Amino acid sequence: MDLFEYQARDIFEKYGVPVLPGIIADTPAEARAAAEKLGGVTVVKAQVKVGGRGKAGGVKVAKTPDEAEAAAEAILGLDIKGHVVKRVMVAAGADIKEEYYFSVLLDRANRSYLSLSSYEGGMEIEQLAEERPDALARVEVDPGEGLDLAKAKEIAIAAKFPAELVDQVAPVFVTLYDVYVKEDATLVEVNPLILTGGGAILAIDGKVSLDENAAFRRPEHEELEDAAATDPLEAKAKEHDLNYVKLDGQVGIIGNGAGLVMSTLDVVAYAGENHGGVKPANFLDIGGGASATIMAAGLDVILGDEQVKSVFVNVFGGITSCVAVADGIVKALEILGDAATKPLVVRLDGNQVEEGRAILAAANHPLVTIAENMDQGADKAAELAAA
Ligand SMILES: Nc1ncnc2c1ncn2[C@@H]1O[C@H](COP(=O)(O)OP(=O)(O)OP(=O)(O)O)[C@@H](O)[C@H]1O
Ligand SMILES: [Mg+2]
Repeated sequence: MDLFEYQARDIFEKYGVPVLPGIIADTPAEARAAAEKLGGVTVVKAQVKVGGRGKAGGVKVAKTPDEAEAAAEAILGLDIKGHVVKRVMVAAGADIKEEYYFSVLLDRANRSYLSLSSYEGGMEIEQLAEERPDALARVEVDPGEGLDLAKAKEIAIAAKFPAELVDQVAPVFVTLYDVYVKEDATLVEVNPLILTGGGAILAIDGKVSLDENAAFRRPEHEELEDAAATDPLEAKAKEHDLNYVKLDGQVGIIGNGAGLVMSTLDVVAYAGENHGGVKPANFLDIGGGASATIMAAGLDVILGDEQVKSVFVNVFGGITSCVAVADGIVKALEILGDAATKPLVVRLDGNQVEEGRAILAAANHPLVTIAENMDQGADKAAELAAA
């Protein structure tokens, strides 16, 4: 999960990374009030989870509260690479003498951490990496050993910081690494880290990505989620612990096991070509124990997708028998009642398939069609979606 700059700033402050005061504002009037509170020169900054805000006109210097209000007026609603600005941060203005770059990130390929840093920051780091790769120091940080002061100095020297600055930036690197580890982040990036006219080191921009796999031990991270940006169907699925991804088609898909669901998407997309190009509407893996409640929750999410015209339930009974799955489907349709409005094609196979199909046949639900096999089921579901 990527954080907004103001959230990164708050976390930095908590850990003792030197930052400047910043106040968020959702309206120009709030931005004016924030600038009045901060006093002096301020910088109004778009809060969007995408880089290159400055170049896109999303970062403006304001000398007075009037100017801050006008800057917010101009920035709010701005579309930056497809991200519409809904909030700005009014930050105290810094007297920038030099700009540097520092980051620490998860290096999956090497099963390690990696620190990237440069004495020449400010510019886009991708550009620096391409045009002047020698100016960007890449130093591996062993997760077992961590990043202590000695390692931080090694990084600063590799990044070509002059001797008198090494001792000044190294403790800031250590603190940023502290944020990285203690917050279970996969990225902590500061671009730029600056030297002020007064000789202080400050982080005036921050990008932090948190590892969602650590959510169980970081319950406080949930509050950092941008609820407005999450797809409502995905949010609902998450509430039920369902593994659901919304796609852009018309055939809802439910299956058990990620592999089977992935193949089902392929088969439905293929069958859809013969039926006006209909496509799968989602990925949904209900996992091993396909109980009635899980089935009902899954169907409920899929039927809530307005684009969905038909649903293909493709389950292979392994440890879970087809009897349990068929019972689950019948009970789920009972639970949903009138909310179940779209045709369902069900393909069952594997453990106790005959008994499972018999249960579905006996229930004789008007919306349910039983398919003999996966290809036939996909074709039928696509046909129903196209109708
Ligand atoms: N508080 C501040 N005071 C003075 N100047 C600032 C301040 N914040 C940002 N700037 C200037 O604006 C530039 C761009 O700001 P920032 O790094 O926050 O955004 P960005 O780099 O455009 O966005 P991103 O890092 O998301 O690509 C900085 O390099 C710095 O020169
Ligand atoms: Mg930046």
